[in-house]
Amino acid sequence: MMKIAILTGAGVSAESGLGTFRDKDGLWTKYDLNDVATPEGFARNPALVHDFYNARRANCVDATPNAAHDALAQLAESAHEVALITQNVDDLHSRAGCLDVIHMHGQLRRALCAQCDARWDAPLVMHPDDPCPFCAQATIRPDIVWFGEVPYHMDKIAQAVEDAALFVAIGTSAEVYPAAGLVELARGKTLEINLEPSARANAFDEHRFGPATEVVPAWVAALL
Ligand code: APR
Repeated sequence: MMKIAILTGAGVSAESGLGTFRDKDGLWTKYDLNDVATPEGFARNPALVHDFYNARRANCVDATPNAAHDALAQLAESAHEVALITQNVDDLHSRAGCLDVIHMHGQLRRALCAQCDARWDAPLVMHPDDPCPFCAQATIRPDIVWFGEVPYHMDKIAQAVEDAALFVAIGTSAEVYPAAGLVELARGKTLEINLEPSARANAFDEHRFGPATEVVPAWVAALL
């Protein structure tokens, strides 16, 4: 049995058809993140932001977990002690069978009231003038951590990474902090699994490059 901390990024959901952010044709090549992934953008044009996340929520419903999600779920439910930390806001890790996913950037399937801080399961489509089910104000937003906001569960995440004998980053460009800095907290071995070297590749002891649906199941099989 080994303590393993895993950090996933958009690359683990790429082969499920969900776009990544910084690849060719990535989401940030189509939308200005300042308009759809910042509190300022939401204040300027809440309808645009809700449209953006309504589209991503619909894509997520249509997507299915891929072999990488399935392999990670198998590992998480094995005798190893796995902390599955994800930057992704899709629910594919849960739908693959992971029972305890740490969503540091929030979730498409959750909603938040900017006025009373209530959280609830998001409807498929959200509109700016929908009333909060708790305080009735028209201040609902996706429960997503935007740029400039504080990611969730950072204490729990830091502890898991420090305690792990192995820290593995999968499918992330390592361009966004604090996620990209987690490798510095690792005290055990570190492994990067990605299509190509990330911005922090040099910080990792080992690397396995290739599509997540090929590399992740092979890596997990060797651990089980
Ligand atoms: N298999 C493995 N890796 C892949 C695949 C694949 N099939 N396809 C793409 N990748 C890799 C890319 O090489 C890239 O390094 O996945 C990474 C995706 O990087 P980004 O698009 O930057 O996504 P991510 O690292 O998750 O972004 C971090 O930025 O915009 C914010 O909050 C958003 O959580 C997101 C954060």
